[in-house]
Amino acid sequence: MNHFITLKDIPSKDLRKIVNNAKKRKNKRKNFNTLDIDKDNPLKGKLLIQMFEKASLRTRLSFYLAIKQLGGGTITLKANELHLGKGGESLADTARILSTYGDAFMLRTDSDKKIDEFSKYLTIPIINGLSPSSHPTQVLSDILTVEEIKKKSISKLNICWIGDTNNVLNSLIAASVKFSFRLNIGCPKNYKPKKFVLDWVKKNKGKINIYNDAKKAVKNADVIFSDKVISLNDKANKSKKIKDFKNFQINSKLMSFAKRDTTFLHCLPRGTEVSSKVFLGKNSKVWLQALNRVHVQKSILLYCFGKLR
Ligand code: CP
Ligand code: NVA
Repeated sequence: MNHFITLKDIPSKDLRKIVNNAKKRKNKRKNFNTLDIDKDNPLKGKLLIQMFEKASLRTRLSFYLAIKQLGGGTITLKANELHLGKGGESLADTARILSTYGDAFMLRTDSDKKIDEFSKYLTIPIINGLSPSSHPTQVLSDILTVEEIKKKSISKLNICWIGDTNNVLNSLIAASVKFSFRLNIGCPKNYKPKKFVLDWVKKNKGKINIYNDAKKAVKNADVIFSDKVISLNDKANKSKKIKDFKNFQINSKLMSFAKRDTTFLHCLPRGTEVSSKVFLGKNSKVWLQALNRVHVQKSILLYCFGKLR
């Protein structure tokens, strides 16, 4: 069994295997209905327990469909309805019970420490469905989306991020090292990635450039990513932060500095960081991006169950 906690800690060859498996499975489902089970029924009888301590639409639905299409089932727990949430049961005992009833555990949480603690006591795999420091299932699925649209390996493409340094960017940075692609980051001076993240990139020979000018960052980009300036439970002074990012909105003007066929991607939900014109425009592939979450979640689950060939 394998946990799926951060991209940084998973070998590149396993991440590549997950993406390739997702491509193959997606192709095989061309005429399937949403709830049809894949022919090999690989997770028949398996139960995925999901728990969300923060809001979610896509991650919740994509894991629901993923386990169903693999032949298993899921239950979603509300964190505030457990004894753990009310302080009446320890995390260790909760983990032991989850391992007794379920076969895998997907957690979205506001605490990276909690994921680590769960991983110590669970005897089933845990999947990080978004934490303050990373959003690995999102970014791995974005690799599939990019390669599907551009029809080449992401290692041959220039990827750009315009926006806040947050969990999604941290995972994109890790992915840039693991999949060996060039990453330009455009953000205001005070919002650049932390030194320990950049040190890790340097140590691992990553190809990252940081620009305080969005126009420079998008030049030559094949793909531009963005995300909300204010993430879930962001404690920042919101109006100040939004003001700090005012020159980093992805709008038609900024897009005019990028390649004509630049693809725009965004994990959703969106805020003011992108204009509606760009978000709903011809360069945007955000709906395909959202749907691909299902396909990659399936291969992540198979990886966790040690069933990826
Ligand atoms: N992109 C994403 O993770 O969406 P949700 O927060 O709706 O799950
Ligand atoms: N950075 C965002 C991602 C939401 C999917 C957040 O943490 O809220």
